Amino acid sequence: MRAAKTSRYRVQFPPADAHDLQQDEVFFHIIENGSQEVRIRFHDYDQIYLRPGLYEQLFYDRLKCASPTKVGELLERALNTASEPITELRVLDLGAGNGMMGEVLKNRHGVARLVGADIIVEARDAAFRDRPDVYDDYYVADFTKLSPQDEDLAQEWSFNCLTSVAALGFGDIPPKAFFTALQLIKPQGWVAFNIKETFLDRSDQSGFSRFIRELIFSEYLEVYHLERYRHRLSMEGSPLFYYALVARKTSSIPNDFLTQACAVDS
Ligand SMILES: C[S@@+](CC[C@H](N)C(=O)[O-])C[C@H]1O[C@@H](n2cnc3c(N)ncnc32)[C@H](O)[C@@H]1O
Repeated sequence: MRAAKTSRYRVQFPPADAHDLQQDEVFFHIIENGSQEVRIRFHDYDQIYLRPGLYEQLFYDRLKCASPTKVGELLERALNTASEPITELRVLDLGAGNGMMGEVLKNRHGVARLVGADIIVEARDAAFRDRPDVYDDYYVADFTKLSPQDEDLAQEWSFNCLTSVAALGFGDIPPKAFFTALQLIKPQGWVAFNIKETFLDRSDQSGFSRFIRELIFSEYLEVYHLERYRHRLSMEGSPLFYYALVARKTSSIPNDFLTQACAVDS
């Protein structure tokens, strides 16, 4: 189900000389109440989610984000290859935002259970406001320091799939949060996510890149699909390429994997 139709916003992108910004610094203006100009960064998710339909208008209608569809398709293809029904997945959707990936998983692929997780309450409020039938539950939590109670609650869902779309790296979900979520997935479960293409480039020595590369090539993931595709357009209209990855988590991952991976020298 698509979010209830809302009025369109008057969105203005800044002049080209402001475009040389990191992806998490990019901003735009919206004109509200006739003339009031409000400046919002792409990563001011709280401000964006407070305005129904703005996230969809900006990232999906204007910047043509294709990632939930792409990651959902590859996940289904991997399960077909493994002769496992996607309808039996119990999914934790990390960095769920207002539910764009959740909508694809529930309505297009028919997963059995779906729990969202995000670090800001505005995301959960927007998901329940705009897509009330998508998530069975939704955690607002910082996965870098999940409380034992939250961890117990999460264990009770017996997740066998982790998804994270348009949410890893770039000041969003750090390696520790992703690793904690991955640890909640049962052995033989699935993981499906996307990352910016430079994260797989050896020249990128950020903690997140090192962790992801070590993980992909480790014995703990059995990769079914790794595909480079156009995630969305930049503000200037250039394609931004990402990798979508679907893998099976083969077994429990030692707790020190994260620290070891981030410490590895290339
Ligand atoms: C670009 S949105 C993606 C939302 C949705 N997955 C989609 O595909 O449209 C990134 C989301 O990640 C969330 N996020 C950022 N840091 C996070 C963290 N440490 N833990 C959980 N969620 C986080 C943000 O609040 C935001 O809702």
